[in-house]
Amino acid sequence: MSQRYTITAALPYTNGPIHIGHLAGVYVPADIYARYLRMQGKDVAFICGSDEHGVPITIKAKKEGITPQDVVDRYHAIIKKSFTDFGITFDNYSRTSAKVHHDTASDFFKTMYDQGKFLEETNQQLYDAQANQFLADRFVIGTCPKCGYEEAYGDQCENCGTSHNTTDLINPKSVITGAVPVLKETKHWFLPLDHYEDFFKEWILKGHKKDWKTNVYGQCKSWIDDGLRPRAVTRDLDWGIPVPVEGAQGKVLYVWFDAPIGYISSTKEWAAREGKDWEPYWKDEQTKLIHFIGKDNIVFHCIIFPAMLKGHGDYILPDNVPANEFLNLEGRKLSTSKNWAVWLHEYLEDFPEQQDVLRYTLTANAPETKDNDFTWKDFQTRNNSELVAIFGNFINRVAVLTQKYYDGVVPQPAAFNQVDLETLEALRAYPAVIGSSIEKYRFRESQTEFMNLARLGNKYLADEEPWKTIKTDAERTQTVMYVALQIASALAVLSEPFLPFTSNKLKSILNIDAPLLWDDIAHKEVLLSSGHTINKSTLLFSKIEDDQIQKQLDKLEASKKANAAEHAAAEAQKDTISFEDFTKLDLRVGKIVAAEKMPKTKKLLVLQVDTGIDTRTIVSGIAESFSPEDIVGKKVTVLVNLAPRALRGVESQGMILMTEDKTGKLVFVNPDQDGVSPGMTIN
Ligand code: MF3
Ligand code: ZN
Repeated sequence: MSQRYTITAALPYTNGPIHIGHLAGVYVPADIYARYLRMQGKDVAFICGSDEHGVPITIKAKKEGITPQDVVDRYHAIIKKSFTDFGITFDNYSRTSAKVHHDTASDFFKTMYDQGKFLEETNQQLYDAQANQFLADRFVIGTCPKCGYEEAYGDQCENCGTSHNTTDLINPKSVITGAVPVLKETKHWFLPLDHYEDFFKEWILKGHKKDWKTNVYGQCKSWIDDGLRPRAVTRDLDWGIPVPVEGAQGKVLYVWFDAPIGYISSTKEWAAREGKDWEPYWKDEQTKLIHFIGKDNIVFHCIIFPAMLKGHGDYILPDNVPANEFLNLEGRKLSTSKNWAVWLHEYLEDFPEQQDVLRYTLTANAPETKDNDFTWKDFQTRNNSELVAIFGNFINRVAVLTQKYYDGVVPQPAAFNQVDLETLEALRAYPAVIGSSIEKYRFRESQTEFMNLARLGNKYLADEEPWKTIKTDAERTQTVMYVALQIASALAVLSEPFLPFTSNKLKSILNIDAPLLWDDIAHKEVLLSSGHTINKSTLLFSKIEDDQIQKQLDKLEASKKANAAEHAAAEAQKDTISFEDFTKLDLRVGKIVAAEKMPKTKKLLVLQVDTGIDTRTIVSGIAESFSPEDIVGKKVTVLVNLAPRALRGVESQGMILMTEDKTGKLVFVNPDQDGVSPGMTIN
């Protein structure tokens, strides 16, 4: 039997789409790993799904006036499709609202409950008296008791990663109403983590988890050294999986209790579909369980979920938890709520054939040991100077020359010289070198090694110059092209985990259809035999132009502005005026009947406005927000008795009332439209 692996990727919250931070931290490395193991002939279950419970989803639903189910349905569909289109090869992508999950999570709780694995306690919890509701988890923010961060959530501080109870927060505040919470009694079930201290000391600290990444091991050690405390695993909420015991009306399982069980239910769903038995993937000691996550999930995957698995019994524990640090975007923290992100589904619209460029850039900058930065400029350079100039250039030369010299038929080599032999030997060493980095979860390093093979190919051709020898030495040229074609086919295979779309393209250029395994590259005498015919060449990568990058930067600039507008305090109120003052203003509805740009200005439009009294000229500074043809026919509010004044020699006889939307664009006064919010001035 081949080694069995259960590989999980953190179930994304379904309160927003996937962005590059998620991809770089979790899904791209997990996919590289899963693809690599499959190519090694391993028995792999690569598992994921949507995390559909939890407070952020209910907050989002409230904000938008829709149900939590509406929210999760919307994002589950977007997320699932974007993963598929991006080539993430989950064996199963489930969701925690599925029946199989509700049943599995309920049974899991019930089994632990029946074995007396929980403490039942009635104590005081934070309560929002205005909203009539207990404040679980993200319904409350306050100061972190450990690091002093002032916007820590009720269940976790995003600054230092510590997980805590809501009542531990200093100066708590309700997210719903802003009220200071009161304490109110309620009953909950607790997982007594303190009972597991010896287990954690043995399992994590006594040596055998020393091979975990230092960030992961270090965090675990600090929590264990600080002493573990009981954690409530139920909540007073109405969105989630009902607590399956007597006397628990109105209570649901804590989202971090149910979500990791989602890995198990997703495995069950997959096995049922494939006619397999799910149990060995979770219960056989020989199976390696690997959790791919971001650093904010460490405590849940290294402490809480293992305690649950241990407490329940029958389950294996994770072999490794290769958590990544965070990715920033253009020097700022990624943020779903601030729309500071590159969204996967939008990327796929803007770069529909270029999944691999993003995969490549994210792996090259993977935040493996420290936070890292994604910039569009770097994205462009990685594509143009690495993928196009090295990998693409090599393949293009090989394919074009093979067509030109031999009608696409792989030539017969003559005797190999020293350089050829060394090159072929170097080639055979690559699978082990790349593979060993992957097995150590060093994906950047592994991809760099992969590109070194493309560099080797490029250098070999540049040194051996078949385009010169073709005129003088037919045999030498055949040998060189033969060797170059062997390198090209090794690249076709070894690129698969990193650049799967490119790998397929290259296999079809080289007309390779037999699936080659990873180790074939090292062990097969010949990868592409003489006499085999390759197909016409197509370009593997295309250049990314400055205007494409500029468009992305402009998008980010717009979110920056929108945020600034949203967070800017409203202007201070002006001095009070009397009613008489007000009645002096003569405001009328007017209709724009003609508009043209004021010559030699950027901002001004000259409008003809039908005020009902007359049709008059008004000069308005709105040319950067509207073009003349957009506004003819629009009804607007006009101050008609403003003293006329000349602008660039044209007399303006009144003023049209305007405000700005969130992005700084001017809009006609109509407060009930997108982007206009309370406090904006009308002028
Ligand atoms: N939804 C969580 C997040 O995005 C991850 C859940 S992982 C699981 O941070 F283990 F709970 F499934
Ligand atoms: Zn903290």
